[in-house]
Amino acid sequence: MEERLQKVLASAGVASRREAEKIILAGRVKVNGKLVTELGIKVDPNHCRITVDGNPVKQEKKAYYIFNKPRGIVTTMSDDKGRKCIADFVKDLPERVFAVGRLDYNTEGLLLLTNDGELAQKLMHPSHEVNKTYLVKVPGLCKDEVLDKLRMGVKLEDGMTAPAIVNLRGYDTEGKFTMFDITIHEGRNRQVRRMCDFIGFPVRELKRIKLGPIKLQNLGRGKFRPLYEEELEALLKAAKL
Ligand code: URA
Repeated sequence: MEERLQKVLASAGVASRREAEKIILAGRVKVNGKLVTELGIKVDPNHCRITVDGNPVKQEKKAYYIFNKPRGIVTTMSDDKGRKCIADFVKDLPERVFAVGRLDYNTEGLLLLTNDGELAQKLMHPSHEVNKTYLVKVPGLCKDEVLDKLRMGVKLEDGMTAPAIVNLRGYDTEGKFTMFDITIHEGRNRQVRRMCDFIGFPVRELKRIKLGPIKLQNLGRGKFRPLYEEELEALLKAAKL
């Protein structure tokens, strides 16, 4: 069956569909030996030879993993500053997976790793509004009324944030820290950190514990496991696939 070239590249796990478009526009893709730099063309992946940077593109079995990213790791497959990145953890996996979305260098927690470019694209698109829940630790005693500001939405330099679901979890015994969880569906850059800066309680620790229907639970730091079938079904449903 014929499909758009960028979709074929995404389903083969080369990159998300948007990244695949960039790869085509950059003149890195050939179909049956002919350079393609337009986005419109349709190809039948079973009846033509596609290469990226000269390497043949094979349709890979779809793979889905949940990963518990530790702090101090970049959410990329390589880092020009030589910092540890996701690739260091997944190099022994049989499939070529990439992370869906990103977590800051100092954020830990749930990342989804897959070679399913279509799912990645859907989950990252703001119109799908997949919820993300973070556990937040801030210094000092942050009263529940202050958290109301996050619940209502705060004004950041790139506009108001949508209302968030926030649950105060408690204070440590000496009252030096406040813990709460926050659920948002937007995916702006450093959003939770900037929201917390706005209310005057800068984030000390940040951990993503839920993405759509998928929960991190007790998966160890730096560990990953394949998604269970029920989790995958729920995730595909959440992404409206
Ligand atoms: N919000 C942030 O501020 N950082 C992350 O890594 C994720 C969400």
